[in-house]
Amino acid sequence: MKKILFLDQSGKPGGAELCLMDLVEPYKDSSLVGLFEDGAFKSLLEQQQIPVRVLGEQAIQVRKESRFWQSLGAIGPLIPLLGKVVQLSRSYDLIYANTQKALVVGALASWFGRRPLVYHLHDILSADHFSLANRRLAVTLANRFAALVIANSQATKSAFIEAGGRSHLTEVVYNGFKLDLYDDDAGNSARIRQELGLDDRFVVGHFSRLAPWKGQHILIEALTRCPERVTAILVGDALFGEADYAQQLHRQVAELGLENRVKFLGFRSDVVALMKACDLVVHTSTSPEPFGRVIVEAMLCCRPVIAAEAGGALELVEDGKTGWLVPPGDVVKLAAAIDKCYQQPELRDAIAHQAQTYARQTFDLDRINQQIDRLLAKLF
Ligand code: UDP
Ligand code: GLC
Repeated sequence: MKKILFLDQSGKPGGAELCLMDLVEPYKDSSLVGLFEDGAFKSLLEQQQIPVRVLGEQAIQVRKESRFWQSLGAIGPLIPLLGKVVQLSRSYDLIYANTQKALVVGALASWFGRRPLVYHLHDILSADHFSLANRRLAVTLANRFAALVIANSQATKSAFIEAGGRSHLTEVVYNGFKLDLYDDDAGNSARIRQELGLDDRFVVGHFSRLAPWKGQHILIEALTRCPERVTAILVGDALFGEADYAQQLHRQVAELGLENRVKFLGFRSDVVALMKACDLVVHTSTSPEPFGRVIVEAMLCCRPVIAAEAGGALELVEDGKTGWLVPPGDVVKLAAAIDKCYQQPELRDAIAHQAQTYARQTFDLDRINQQIDRLLAKLF
């Protein structure tokens, strides 16, 4: 049985962590997930009986926009972690780094401990998302130490190569999803609509942590151009220190007088039922989305989806066939697309069904996990 030490810097369940949780599953009897901080993600792993250990005592503050000296300075707090990871890695055959700070620690541990390193790259390493210094650090470490870089989309792979990453190291593997989770609704969505007072509304769902580049403000503004019945639910919380943005969104809703048409639901673990309670799901990232789990989840829930036309979303949605694409940040076009969907129930059903068939074929977790297993098998 392959013994893998998975590393992730976050204690919170963002998309990269939810992806990791699913791909660890086949290795869980012989592997360990090491987190650099405590949090709800640890509890989620425990619920799945996945062995997990918190290796760091405090959250590590490296901002994505740090300058080079700040990035290097931020490595300081990682040193005690490094000792633990080097020690631990002796009991494992491979180190699997799932985030950038995990790459920093994993790269050094792989070198000291002579273990192969895999870097699962969930981010687009472009100026939209990262400072030059952080891009250089990630690319240099990956090129020098990783035996394999798994990119979550072609867009992510291309940005990695453009930033100087080695193409021959990199394989694209999409996120996988447990298809049976999307089968049965058991009346939950009807109950949710009723509880939220949405029975007579056209419900547009936005499922994402609250962060400026996720573009919740674009949807809120678009609502002012949509029929009165159109109501939005914003599902997600400010996971990574974006409390100011959350406040700004509440202010925007008040200023536009949309209190009755926007509901903030916070972080929820019943995303499938909530999605099924929606008539439409929108994705509004203003910077290129590396992959976009929520887009695939909406498809699997058989809900029509409008996505921002950039990054990984272009690989997931075929405009007019499996969803709709609108230019990122374009409020007018988003409102027009929502209105079209609102006016044409038959069209939106047809698109949603086509997308569901496509998503079930393309993102089946069992198949994706086999793909990863074949890639890892070459490294042992
Ligand atoms: N999600 C969740 N609860 C929420 C909001 C989001 O479980 O309240 C999940 C969502 O279903 C998706 C993930 O968080 O699986 C977000 O992943 P995505 O790739 O869309 O974006 P990320 O936040 O990773 O950039
Ligand atoms: C990251 C990206 C997101 C992607 C997820 C899973 O969090 O921001 O686009 O879907 O990882 O790979």
